[in-house]
Order: sequence, then C-alpha cells, then structure tokens
Amino acid sequence: MSKKPYIINLKSIGSSSLGYITVAEQKKNIPFEIKRVYWTYFTPNDVERGNHAHKKLEQVIIAVSGIIKFTLEDSSGNKTKFVLDSPDKGLYIPNMYWRKIKFSHNAVLLCLASEFYDENDYIRNYANFLGKL
Ligand code: TYD
Repeated sequence: MSKKPYIINLKSIGSSSLGYITVAEQKKNIPFEIKRVYWTYFTPNDVERGNHAHKKLEQVIIAVSGIIKFTLEDSSGNKTKFVLDSPDKGLYIPNMYWRKIKFSHNAVLLCLASEFYDENDYIRNYANFLGKL
C-alpha cells in the first residue's frame, strides 16, 4: 500500500494565559528523519505555490502562523484538500503527491523534510506526473 497524506495533531503544551509550545521530534511525532527545514513567508494571497511533486521527498508542513490550504493529488488523479489553520497541526505529505498551496497574507509555512534539497527530485510537469501511474 502506498503512503497517504494525513493531519498530525501535535501536542500544545501550555495555557491561554501563558502561551504554548509545540515540539517536532524525528521518528517520534514526525514519521521520518529530518534532514532539512525551510520556511516560506510573505506570500501574497492571490498566489498559488507548489505545482510540483517529489519523487522521494516526504514532508511535514506546519502553518506556524496564518492559514494554508492544500490540494493534494496522487498520480491516479485522486484529490484531497487539507487546511492548516493552527500551529499545532502538521500535514504529512508522502512522496508522489502533486500539491497546490494557497496562503493567507500572514501565513508562515514551516516544512520538515526527509531529504536535502535536490532539484532532480522534483516533478514540475503535471502531464509527466500523471504519466507515472
Ligand atoms: P519550490 O520548492 O519550487 O517552492 P514552491 O513550491 O513553494 O513554489 O522552491 C522555490 C525555489 O526555491 C526553487 O528555485 C528552488 C529553491 N529552493 C532551494 O534552493 N532550496 C530548498 O530547500 C527549497 C525548498 C527551494
């Protein structure tokens, strides 16, 4: 069975009066070893990012601020939508999912990635992606 995307409910430690801390730990609440962390910010809300898939890379994405909406599509064309609207939620994205991403103005996307950056791991052509059935 191939892997599927899912929401990871991360623990919020704290209280509304003191504030919160949330923790990501590899092979504990994150289902892989983390080789790379990156973040994106200041994305205008009329911009759609993503529009690619990865051959090998797995990711967990967290909206540490704002709201981030995902449409994920597998190589059979099955689409699933996810909304990250809280910093205690993570979205696990397996390899071979085409993603489209929309951001609220104030969104900061934090990505925990299973591999170092490698442009050769990207599939940026949608027809090629669907051809990989
Ligand atoms: P990309 O993954 O295409 O971002 P998005 O899907 O959000 O549009 O990356 C955008 C650019 O940044 C692209 O030129 C590759 C570069 N980049 C790196 O150099 N290193 C990285 O770790 C990442 C994620 C991107």
